[in-house]
Amino acid sequence: MKITKICCIGAGYVGGPTMAVIAQKCPHIQVTVVDLNSERIAAWNDDDVNNIPIYEPGLSAVVQEARGRNLFFSTDVEKAIDEAQVIFISVNTPTKTYGKGKGMAADLKYIELCARQIAKVAKDNKIVVEKSTLPVRTAEAIKSILDNTGNGVQFQILSNPEFLAEGTAVSDLMHPDRILIGGDTTEEGQKAIQALVDVYANWVQPENILTTNVWSSELSKLTANAFLAQRISSINALSELCEKTGADVNEVAKAIGMDSRIGSKFLKASVGFGGSCFQKDILNLVYIAKSYGLNEVADYWEQVIIMNDHQKRRFSNRIVQTLYNTVADKKIAFLGWAFKKDTNDTRESAAIYVANDLINEEANIVVYDPKVALKKILSDLDYLETREAVSNAKHITSFPDAYSTCENAHAIAILTEWDEFKTYDWQKIYDSMQKPAFIFDGRNILDGEKLKEIGFIYQAIGS
Ligand code: UDX
Ligand code: ADP
Repeated sequence: MKITKICCIGAGYVGGPTMAVIAQKCPHIQVTVVDLNSERIAAWNDDDVNNIPIYEPGLSAVVQEARGRNLFFSTDVEKAIDEAQVIFISVNTPTKTYGKGKGMAADLKYIELCARQIAKVAKDNKIVVEKSTLPVRTAEAIKSILDNTGNGVQFQILSNPEFLAEGTAVSDLMHPDRILIGGDTTEEGQKAIQALVDVYANWVQPENILTTNVWSSELSKLTANAFLAQRISSINALSELCEKTGADVNEVAKAIGMDSRIGSKFLKASVGFGGSCFQKDILNLVYIAKSYGLNEVADYWEQVIIMNDHQKRRFSNRIVQTLYNTVADKKIAFLGWAFKKDTNDTRESAAIYVANDLINEEANIVVYDPKVALKKILSDLDYLETREAVSNAKHITSFPDAYSTCENAHAIAILTEWDEFKTYDWQKIYDSMQKPAFIFDGRNILDGEKLKEIGFIYQAIGS
């Protein structure tokens, strides 16, 4: 089966970049990305390619090249489903906020809606690909809906989890460590797998394309994220011990990272991991383990989240304690709001929780993030439902540049590791602040010695 038309449901952080790269690498395949959110689709279609809704280094150039040629963004979901041979499902799967599994299980209502829509529209055989991170055995549920509500056509369900990290999405997609495709062991299943393998083979080496059964593929995605997050919680746990003992967590990370069995990546102590995946996927894993009665397994992985929550809270506590046990009416400048650099995504960003804690203490927060606007910051805080929206708006605002953000501040907190923070004129910032001037470096990116020479009281994570 030769694929010539692909449809992707969901034009978000996964669907958008992934389809843009597939379209760029496969000019012979027509790729249509659809979304219910017409504002988002309009932004993807904006004449000025710099206005696409997702900020990712290199992405606008890829979109520029392929859009209108073989890459299309549309709100006409049914037409795109009807025409495509392969349908990727890339819709959001947030953690449930209600009912059974609340706060733990993935909310699959958007996935189910997609499956029902595909079943309704499809008039010929389709390959349906799970791209969003999903709990193990979701493919089975999708298949059941498709087979029982469809028009009698055949569906093959593949799991093809996305491993891209935001901020490096384009290069991750162009040079993936591996492409993982899970499918049925039947002859039809194998044919579907091969059809998708052939798409990726346009730019990925065969030895980097891995095929498995559906469940292994689904579980591998959760496991990869759990392992990555676990490394961060492990080094963050040690960062607290370093602060007590006089060890330096950066030195410890370097020393252990040189052991080739451990490796040096993902050992950066921080204010805590964020992003749409780590917490959600671990909670998913915990929920699945519990549902099979595997309580020790569930507890083991849940500790990664508990540690991460502790790390965020510890950071805000440290700010309050250091500022003489009160931040009430004090100006705290936040540099960074995104959950990591080079993205405008703020989902689960540590900044949200630290800000929430400090607002509980009546602090006034001013934020500067090169890619995040006040509207998003406020909606992130309101989403926590800690207090009235007017009260959030009273306590937090943002400025368009770092220098005005820091003016008259009692303290600066670094929440995101944006490169530009390292290049600032820190003497100028110091001169404009209240004294003593504090910096809490939640990302360990600044030169602490230099800042201390200027006169700052500098506190990093884990030293
Ligand atoms: C992650 C996985 O890396 C990716 O493979 C998967 O597809 C989706 O989830 P993402 O969340 O986009 O990607 O970014 P990632 O680079 O993993 O960072 C996640 C969080 O961990 C960020 O808040 C980051 O700042 C933090 N982090 C990362 C650390 O605190 N220390 C580290 O050493 C690495
Ligand atoms: P991710 O990080 O997984 O890509 P996003 O929230 O950025 O998550 O993107 C998911 C997108 O899926 C959103 O733009 C949302 O509007 C879209 N979406 C959700 N359900 C449907 C649906 N049934 N049909 C079309 N689009 C949908």
